Amino acid sequence: MRKIKIPDTMTVAVLNSYSGADALHIEQRPVPTPERNEVLVKVAFAPINPSDLATLTGYYGLKNPTPIVPGGEGSGEVVSAGPGVMANYFLGKRVACSGWGIGGGVWSEYVVKSVKGGVLPLNRSLSLEQGAMSIINPLTASAFIDISKKGGHKAILLTAAASSLGKMVNSLGRNEGIKIINVVRREAQVDLLKAQGADIVLNSNEAGFEQQLRDVCHQTNTRIAFDAVAGSLTNQLLKAMPQNSKVIVFSALSKQGIQVSPDLLIFENKRIDSFWLGPWMSKQSLVKMLLLWKRSQKQIPSHLKSEIRKIYPIQQVKEAIYDYRTQMTGGKILLRMP
Ligand SMILES: NC(=O)c1ccc[n+]([C@@H]2O[C@H](COP(=O)([O-])OP(=O)(O)OC[C@H]3O[C@@H](n4cnc5c(N)ncnc54)[C@H](OP(=O)(O)O)[C@@H]3O)[C@@H](O)[C@H]2O)c1
Repeated sequence: MRKIKIPDTMTVAVLNSYSGADALHIEQRPVPTPERNEVLVKVAFAPINPSDLATLTGYYGLKNPTPIVPGGEGSGEVVSAGPGVMANYFLGKRVACSGWGIGGGVWSEYVVKSVKGGVLPLNRSLSLEQGAMSIINPLTASAFIDISKKGGHKAILLTAAASSLGKMVNSLGRNEGIKIINVVRREAQVDLLKAQGADIVLNSNEAGFEQQLRDVCHQTNTRIAFDAVAGSLTNQLLKAMPQNSKVIVFSALSKQGIQVSPDLLIFENKRIDSFWLGPWMSKQSLVKMLLLWKRSQKQIPSHLKSEIRKIYPIQQVKEAIYDYRTQMTGGKILLRMP
């Protein structure tokens, strides 16, 4: 293993208050030391995800007192290990690391992580760029397919479908013989998904959307929807699907509350549920999660790859966030650590 000299201080992006990207600044902090069953990761890349944007404004489910270091996932190399067999196993390995739990967010040159779920080994064939985006969206796409297959669904309704996650669900779904009914908000997104092989793509801002959606859901017997938008769209989905259908809300990109007609719940036995990756993972067995990780790592090149639009140095984190927000469909923005 090559010896890496660990400096005393590191570059970190710090959020001072939950008031958006303007509350971010770069500072130098001492490099932390890993304790028992912990490792020190030299972070290479971290994406900006919608959950990071939500974190900056205090809209995300995890809200520790500020100042915090944001960054929900990243990649890097384990450069030192605390005591413990597992920590030593990871020494020198390339890993994906989660921004949850010990050590906090990964928009940082170095981060300490627990070996119990904080770091996951990366496939040798994966670049550190793709590795940085191998937890949140790939595992969520795999979870959606898993949930759908368990429920015996042959068709899925999906909103914000031109997102990175949406493209993964489409590709995995096609591979598993599951039809995806895609809902997007712009015509360019219809063209984009169709060019990538999607069969059914509807624009929620087009006249006649509700009727088209109802027709297609009934023709394909679509009884499960994964909704990233919320607001009035959730009710449109629920209304369009046959009786006994379910909408699983997994984000609120519209930043609107869910408005649902009670008739749909009472007389048509339709339901609303939710999905959050962390709690979903903790309900699965360790063996299942390890198999899921192994499979999703293998499937990244074929079905679970994220397009990268641009890479910014961490020092330009604010510019990177503004750029990402202007064209989220255009691909991921990565932050590169020093
Ligand atoms: N619950 C969970 O555990 C979990 C896990 C993974 C992902 N997610 C969620 O999944 C979604 C997709 O994530 P991603 O990383 O794949 O995103 P992404 O690649 O950054 O793309 C975001 C997409 O959302 C669209 N969008 C933004 N605001 C919208 C709105 N108000 N109405 C409709 N569409 C809107 C964007 O379209 P424009 O280009 O038109 O803006 C873009 O296509 C996010 O909401 C994320 O939080 C949740």
